[in-house]
Amino acid sequence: MKILVTGGAGYIGSHTCVELLNDNYDVVVLDNLSNSSEESLVRVKNITGKSLEFCKADLLSKKQIAAVFSENKIDAVIHFAGLKAVGESVSIPLRYFQNNITGTLNLLAVMNDFNVKNIVFSSSATVYGDPASLPIKEDFPLSVTNPYGRTKLMIEEIMKDLYHSDKNWNIALLRYFNPVGAHKTGEIGEDPSGIPNNLVPYISKVAVGCLPRLSVFGNDYDTPDGTGVRDFIHVVDLALGHIKTLPKLFSNPGLVIYNLGTGFGYSVLEMIKEFEEVSRRKIPYKIFGRRPGDVASCWADPSKAKKELGWEAKKTLTDMCRDTWNWQKKNPDGYQ
Ligand code: NAD
Ligand code: UD1
Repeated sequence: MKILVTGGAGYIGSHTCVELLNDNYDVVVLDNLSNSSEESLVRVKNITGKSLEFCKADLLSKKQIAAVFSENKIDAVIHFAGLKAVGESVSIPLRYFQNNITGTLNLLAVMNDFNVKNIVFSSSATVYGDPASLPIKEDFPLSVTNPYGRTKLMIEEIMKDLYHSDKNWNIALLRYFNPVGAHKTGEIGEDPSGIPNNLVPYISKVAVGCLPRLSVFGNDYDTPDGTGVRDFIHVVDLALGHIKTLPKLFSNPGLVIYNLGTGFGYSVLEMIKEFEEVSRRKIPYKIFGRRPGDVASCWADPSKAKKELGWEAKKTLTDMCRDTWNWQKKNPDGYQ
């Protein structure tokens, strides 16, 4: 089976490539390297001892996508490629809509032309907005507060309409909670450009001495210690969720939706404490006001994925912090 992985050089994509190769899939990566480095794929090959094909191509070019499909007999696509920074999406929404929506429309059109109708899409828990209750189930109401989230919701809607128009499509919408951690070898991990926006990459930059102090956004939420609570999931567990989704996709399920989370929430202060213990470094922090658009708490009900895919997250908060720290120490400047 040959799987096309769009965005395969990125954070979640590279970890998924490792697990695909470990599971004996043939892998073709399509990435324009706008937020990644080809070095991640060299490391994927080192970890697995297997090769994959890399096509430097942009989803904004239908011609480039079609060339990949002409040269390879693809059985299914895992579609990670997209821009993902929430703050940036507020300042340059058109670029987000163009890249994420137009890129996906081009991909789907080429897939249709080549009669490849199996796709797994990287959606996000952001589509649940501010949930009325917890844990979050797949049938909860959907709403978004920023252009990045809107691209995820719009792509979900586009894929639903596509499925309704042609029942030969098999589409899995995977809603990720908060991916963190790195491969246990420390060879691949998250390599944000510039100052990280997300909590764990920021903490690890503070631990390694690249940033002086963490800003904690709000300690007056209705949570046990007042700071935000999230369902952090190890990126390798997340990657394995995709591996478990593929057989489901090949069983012709139509359109299916799964939460990929652990079902547990940890607060910002709990994450800092765990990271300090694992790294044996002090993480200086200061409390600031709430970050606009943040919700107090968010965690998944992952029972549907367990029941229907036979998948559940296994790794602990300690694993997440230890593997992030191992990657950060080995690669203080990321892939550069
Ligand atoms: P990432 O930025 O590390 O990877 C995305 C990859 O897509 C990058 O390698 C980038 O170069 C590539 N890309 C972007 N636009 C492209 C285009 N037009 N053509 C070809 N390649 C393109 O991000 P990630 O963290 O690995 O996220 C992967 C997917 O999962 C994204 O769609 C993201 O929105 C989604 N997601 C991520 C998180 C998270 O916290 N990381 C949470 C929920 C959902
Ligand atoms: C954010 C995005 C979400 C996206 C996800 C991808 C926002 C509002 N939401 O989720 O759409 O899918 O990233 O991973 O940006 N925090 C700090 N200090 C920091 C950074 C974060 O205190 O420097 C806090 C936040 O206030 C939050 C928690 O840490 O309570 C987690 O934040 P983050 O890692 O950015 O993830 P989300 O906000 O859940």
